[in-house]
Amino acid sequence: MAGLRLHGVKKSFGEVPVIRGIDLDIIDGEFCVFVGPSGCGKSTLLRMIAGLEEMTEGLITIGDRDVTWLPPARRGISMVFQSYALYPHMTVAQNIAFGLKMAKLPKAEIDARTGKAAKLLQLTELLSRRPAQLSGGQRQRVAIGRAIVREPDVFLFDEPLSNLDAALRVQMRIEISKLHNDLKATMIYVTHDQVEAMTMADKIVVLNAGMIAQVGSPLELYHRPNNLFVATFIGSPKMNLIEGRVEEVVNGNARIQLASGSMIEVPTRGTTVAMGPVTLGVRPEHLLVGKTGAVNSFKGKVQLSEHLGGETMLYVSAPDIEQCVIKADGLAPQRAGDEITVELAPQTCHLFDANGQAIVNGSLI
Ligand SMILES: Nc1ncnc2c1ncn2[C@@H]1O[C@H](COP(=O)(O)OP(=O)(O)OP(=O)(O)O)[C@@H](O)[C@H]1O
Ligand SMILES: [Mg+2]
Repeated sequence: MAGLRLHGVKKSFGEVPVIRGIDLDIIDGEFCVFVGPSGCGKSTLLRMIAGLEEMTEGLITIGDRDVTWLPPARRGISMVFQSYALYPHMTVAQNIAFGLKMAKLPKAEIDARTGKAAKLLQLTELLSRRPAQLSGGQRQRVAIGRAIVREPDVFLFDEPLSNLDAALRVQMRIEISKLHNDLKATMIYVTHDQVEAMTMADKIVVLNAGMIAQVGSPLELYHRPNNLFVATFIGSPKMNLIEGRVEEVVNGNARIQLASGSMIEVPTRGTTVAMGPVTLGVRPEHLLVGKTGAVNSFKGKVQLSEHLGGETMLYVSAPDIEQCVIKADGLAPQRAGDEITVELAPQTCHLFDANGQAIVNGSLI
């Protein structure tokens, strides 16, 4: 087992910079998730860690070994891809054992490791089947089995579940988390799925255009985003953003005027907040349908009401914000066309400056 360190890692394809300077420490045994929009460089970064892509600049160490110039096979990593790429003519057992056979390990050792991995992944009954006779989830488990038997220091996963249907994804997500608990190995996992990132990660790395936008635990990123990019990337539905102007700061509250003239008072938590334009961020669960004339509110009109059973998403347009989303009660009675008062919980509001940097993070405590 080992941790991993990236130092000044850069990559250009020809003249085009894709990874623009990454410094990152991943602790031994940590489950680290990379997220970011399509094309931001997640797979490229993972492939550089694996040694499948040459770096333009920088250093990578695994444990105390500098692996920057080592070939993939000598880095002590295993990678699981989105496509399982199993050999169709081989059985499950042969697929799992293939890498070990190539490495010419003794047969008894290969059998022992294959048996152990199969047990861990509940594949023991399926060892003599071929990939065509397996479900998608079972195939992905075989691909993971192939990674496990190599007993790597670090596991790399590049969107391993995105080919599976929703129910299987949930099941596999739980299985990979359990696997992490059992193996206590360092894992780096790329995903587009908010729930996977939030539930599986010890640490999330948010990437934006080849740079790190923020690193933190899932709840740190959710509650204390450093900037607008992270604030709107983490969380679904997205954080609502309302443009306003700080008119004055009184008794530790920034008085913010919205386009319609509505005033919102947000606690500044000891931070100096300058007068002038500001972006106010508030998550859908921190908005509610309030009473007419409530403080810290603005008027809007319901455009759409989505009843999801346990909760209702109300899409509201207002002079102050083109569209905001309220996460309301499952039985919320509002319908499209209703005029409502949208009330904010001011202690949960975030403030961002003109450069998109967070000035104040809201908090429930
Ligand atoms: N071999 C290559 N040659 C040139 N450009 C490349 C090459 N591989 C990737 N790129 C470019 O590098 C950028 C990052 O690609 P990468 O595959 O790392 O993105 P990603 O974050 O994994 O995206 P996705 O979420 O869609 O998988 C993209 O703009 C892509 O077009
Ligand atoms: Mg990718």
